[in-house]
Order: sequence, then structure tokens, then C-alpha cells
Amino acid sequence: MADKIVLAYSGGLDTSACVVWLKDKFGYDVVAMAADVGQAGEFGSIQDRASYAGAIEAQVVDCKEEFARDYLVPALRANALYEGKYPLVSALSRPVIVKHMVDTARKVGAVAVAHGCTGKGNDQVRFEVSTGALAPDLDIVAPVRSWNMTREQCIEYLSDKGITFEVTKKSPYSIDDNLWGRAIECGILEDPWLTPPDDVYELTKITATNPSEITISFEEGIPVALDGQAMGLVELIEKLGAHVGSYGFGRLDMVENRRVGIKSREVYECPASLALIYAHQDLEAITLERDLHHEKMNLEHRYSELIYDGLWFSPLRESLDSFMESASKRVTGDVRLRCDTPGKSIDGSRSPGKVYVAGRRSPYSLYSHELATYGDADTFRHQDSEGFVKIWGLGLKTWAQQAGEEPNR
Ligand code: ARG
Repeated sequence: MADKIVLAYSGGLDTSACVVWLKDKFGYDVVAMAADVGQAGEFGSIQDRASYAGAIEAQVVDCKEEFARDYLVPALRANALYEGKYPLVSALSRPVIVKHMVDTARKVGAVAVAHGCTGKGNDQVRFEVSTGALAPDLDIVAPVRSWNMTREQCIEYLSDKGITFEVTKKSPYSIDDNLWGRAIECGILEDPWLTPPDDVYELTKITATNPSEITISFEEGIPVALDGQAMGLVELIEKLGAHVGSYGFGRLDMVENRRVGIKSREVYECPASLALIYAHQDLEAITLERDLHHEKMNLEHRYSELIYDGLWFSPLRESLDSFMESASKRVTGDVRLRCDTPGKSIDGSRSPGKVYVAGRRSPYSLYSHELATYGDADTFRHQDSEGFVKIWGLGLKTWAQQAGEEPNR
């Protein structure tokens, strides 16, 4: 009997060719597994495509709730933004996909897993490091990294094997998307000087014509309601994303440092994740004690890097999550976002409107009007500051007096 291998399958040309190649080259029985993490596309036909390509079994696993609860919530609590900007869309989905790949491998008794990543990206790192962390005994095969075929050669290879996919007009871009947003690479975007054309955008197509407001409620750092209406995470993320996305909010255009040493130009659309992170950061500003807040910010940077680098299943990430969870105990309250209508760009296209925090409140607010006000209600004892400031600056003052005696001054 042939050994079994579980392939992370997307339904596209590349991973379909992987099915054929794994069978052809190594004689594996291929079990195709597609994970639904909220990406666009048809799951109905995925199983048929995998079977047609020669998979002995094809499964679609709905991971949306789990992805939101166990991966996106921790990332939101940590305000996870790689290089201060990118909310880690692809980086967060890889560990949940790998978890299900490994589960499937155990269920069917596979000896190996496979993925369709190239040798130039971060995703191969995330797939393989995560697999190694969860199942060190499983072999990993990366067909696309070793077969050296262009897209055309790939189509030819398949047709030589008697397999023809109706190849839809291929988008000039490489896309990866899920509940947290959408990553767009390749094509014209490879020139970092050129403005991304409007056709790269899907989640942030500008359709809004009227200004609006939307209020997000959080409990212990977790978003639980929109405009007072309680809803599950997946629905909340989708609704919020659709709303702020219609103003063109959530676009990022950046050159980022990949783990493999390449700088790459990336365009992202992250309406829901960025709106949630900005709102969450704002609620923290009113509810977190200063030292905790500052230390948390330092750790957020480290946390984001870990996730980007494929180290989700690491003891450091787990320990940082314990910190983030504990720090979030009082991050409860409402944040009101205001959405302003889109404008016009120099080339005549519509430019994104603005989405910004216009108000925040919390039962755990540390904001004290009596302390902050310059008006009549002021209870702050101004005279206490005199001694505080003197002592605060005493060291520097002493240093300055002494420095007067330095030979070269
Ligand atoms: N650069 C991003 C990351 O490493 C996005 C990767 C997108 N992947 C893709 N196949 N288009 O997280």
C-alpha cells in the first residue's frame, strides 16, 4: 500500500499540480485538505477538483470560528502589526491550517504533509516550522519549491498527464485572503514606485456615499458588539470589514522585510483588522495603567515578529499570550468610529475616506475629569507638583553643574 501524504490544497492550478506531482514522483496517495479561513472563493467545487487531479480523498475544513477565537483574538489583544503596519493576515492563518493538516495526517495515518509555497516567501517558513513544532515525526514535501516549472509549463505538465483545468483568466496578482484581510503581490506591484491600480482592491472598493458612525464594544479586549448589537466574532469581523471597507479604509502599501532576507512590495486590504486594532489600542489608552501600557507596547513588537517569523507554536508566544490576556482584564468598553466620505485623487480616481476614533468610554476608565480639567471642577493639588518636578530633575541639574568643569566645554 502506498504511503499517504496530506496536502494543503487551495483548489488552484499550483496545488492541483502538486497532487499530480506527489503521486507521479513519489507514488504517494494524496489526501487534499482545504481550510476555510474566510477567504473568497468556491468551496463546493474544491473536492471535485482535487479528486479530478487524482487525490484519493479531499476534505474542506471550516476553521473560521476557531481561527477567529484562537488566533485573531490573541493577535488583536496584542495589537499585532508587523513592522508597525501589517496585521499579519497570512502569517496568522498558516498555524491554523497546519494544525488541521497535522490532525488530518493523524486521522488518515499519513507519513508526510505537503504545501504549495515557493522558496522565496514567508509562508514556507510558517508551514514547515509549525509542522515541526506540532509533529516533528512527519516529513514535509514542498513540490513548488523543487519542480522549477513556470505557470505555462505547469499547465502543460498537467495536460501531459491527461488533466485539463479550464484555466480562468489568471489575475495578474498573487492573492492570499482570509477573515483578517487580503494580501496582494506580484505583477505591476513589483515596482515599488508605481501607485497600485484600482483593480487590486476587492475588500476596500469605494462605494460609500454618506458619512456614518459605528460603535464597537469590547469585553476584556474581545470585540462583542457593533452598535450595541451583540454578535459572534466571525459575523462581527465580516460586518465591520464591509462597513469601513466601503469607505476605502484599510489599505496598506508597504515594502516589508521578509524572513528570508528579501524586501518585498506588498499591498494589503485590512479593513476589519485595522479598524479593530485601532479601536482596541484606543480603549487601552483609557483603561491601562501607564507602566503596564508601556511594557505591553514593547512586548507587542516582539509578539508580532514571532508570528511573522512562523513561531506561533512556540513557548514564548504562549507566555506572551498569558501576559496579553491578563493585561486585557479591564479592556472593556465602547469605541465610536467615525467614517467620513471618500474624496478624489490626482488621477481622477476616488480616494479613500477617513475612519477614525471619535470617542471612547469604559466602566474601568482611568480618565478622571476632576484631575484632567483646567476648569472649575479641578481637584488636582497644583502645589504638590513643585517638589515633584524639582526632585525629578535633580539628577540632570547636578550633572549640568558638574559638566561646566569638563576640560573641553
Ligand atoms: N507578505 C505577506 C506575509 O508574508 C503576505 C504573503 C501572501 N502570500 C501569498 N501567497 N500571496 O505575511
